[in-house]
Amino acid sequence: MQQSELDFVNNLRQSSPYIEAHQGKTIVIYIPSELLSLDSEEDERLFQLAKDVVLLNHLGMKTVITLGVELQLNEAFERDHLTWETHFNCRVTTKEHLKTFVETIGQARAQIESEFTEACSEEQSTLTIISGNWVTARPKGIIQGIDFQHTGALRKINHEAIARSLSIGQVVLLTPLTYSLTGEMFNLNSLEQAFSVAKALEADKLMIFSSPESLVDLPKQMSMSQLNALNTQTSEPKQKRLLSLIQSTHSKIKRIHLLDQNEPGAILLELFTRDGVGTMIFTDRYHHIRPATFEDVSGILMLIAPLEEEGILVKRSREKLELEIENFVVIARDDHIIGCAALYPMDEQSAEMACLAIDPAYQGQSLGEELLQAIEKQAMQNRFQNLFLLTTHTDHWFIEHGFKKAQVAELPEKKQSLYNYQRQSKVLVKALKA
Ligand SMILES: CC(C)(COP(=O)(O)OP(=O)(O)OC[C@H]1O[C@@H](n2cnc3c(N)ncnc32)[C@H](O)[C@@H]1OP(=O)(O)O)[C@@H](O)C(=O)NCCC(=O)NCCS
Repeated sequence: MQQSELDFVNNLRQSSPYIEAHQGKTIVIYIPSELLSLDSEEDERLFQLAKDVVLLNHLGMKTVITLGVELQLNEAFERDHLTWETHFNCRVTTKEHLKTFVETIGQARAQIESEFTEACSEEQSTLTIISGNWVTARPKGIIQGIDFQHTGALRKINHEAIARSLSIGQVVLLTPLTYSLTGEMFNLNSLEQAFSVAKALEADKLMIFSSPESLVDLPKQMSMSQLNALNTQTSEPKQKRLLSLIQSTHSKIKRIHLLDQNEPGAILLELFTRDGVGTMIFTDRYHHIRPATFEDVSGILMLIAPLEEEGILVKRSREKLELEIENFVVIARDDHIIGCAALYPMDEQSAEMACLAIDPAYQGQSLGEELLQAIEKQAMQNRFQNLFLLTTHTDHWFIEHGFKKAQVAELPEKKQSLYNYQRQSKVLVKALKA
């Protein structure tokens, strides 16, 4: 088998749990105006994204797209010699703007429909993309003396009707053009609309494409409390706008993913690879994995004490733990330690994993697996080829996670001499692949 074929098989194997996990899930995708390039011959980003959405649909996911048209509107207004005002980061849409606004939305819709039609034909899919009047608006009103006229605020979402379209396999497209119950037209902020629709549909994920500047230095994962802290520190205006919007509207959306609009295939990499390529914001489970610090010693001791009592873990004194704290990683939920594991170098090739524990209240949520993966990653980064461990109760769990039984004689010499024959621990080993 050639290397490229092997890579394909391995990649397919690695993504299969994610394919299963995402089946039947609803995602809302926000596409900013930058992706609706004026020159689609030159810029393939929207076409590639359309192909990715077709693939998601093939894999059983339901997709709603909300479309931003800010750049296209700027250009059309300038072309038609129309000026506009912006207050509080929001464009005032006047009666004079409406004709150009409606035309621009029509063009954007036509562009996205044509890209989808081509993508479906290439992917041999019968998928259709539809838009409609599911979202009703009301005037944004007069704020601090400024009348926003035809700039709207969201009034109601007919989410049952959207869900019906999704259930028969259609992709739903929402644009900023919305109507009031009296039939007036309104320009609605499409990013805000994306949040509201995700909430109303109880979507599993909201995926936001954004500019690299607004994503600069964001971590791979963050809890809402980390996001709040970051928002007070950042000086990048685009990032501040994005984070503030998430802060004010995140409730009821389980996961928010921020993706770079210039990264090809970002949505697939984010959904179907372990590490993803964007930033995932947890709004429900506030946990994250990080290296342990001296302040975590008490939390780790509380976590492992009952397991030491039961003889599942070897006893560690506070002093020993303090000395070895740099070997530990922890899972913290807010400030509470709910999981830990340690990595000890044995010789040049091998390291030992020890002291893996998850708070019983949080077991069965794959946190143990996440910690194991973090330790394996760390071991690989340090160029170890084998990961050993000794266990008295948990060999089956480790075997299910790729470990194999080994003999005491296979342990590095240094470790063999320390092996406690009274404990009769089982020796397990996993070969690490770069
Ligand atoms: C082993 C441990 C870390 C797993 O953490 P976790 O977050 O619950 O793990 P996951 O959610 O990834 O896996 C849960 C699965 O492992 C199974 N499992 C838990 N302990 C197990 C054991 N000792 N042997 C076999 N399977 C076990 C659970 O039944 C569950 O199976 P299911 O998904 O079929 O219901 C956790 O159970 C723990 O802290 N155990 C006590 C400490 C320990 O044994 N540490 C190892 C020291 S060497």
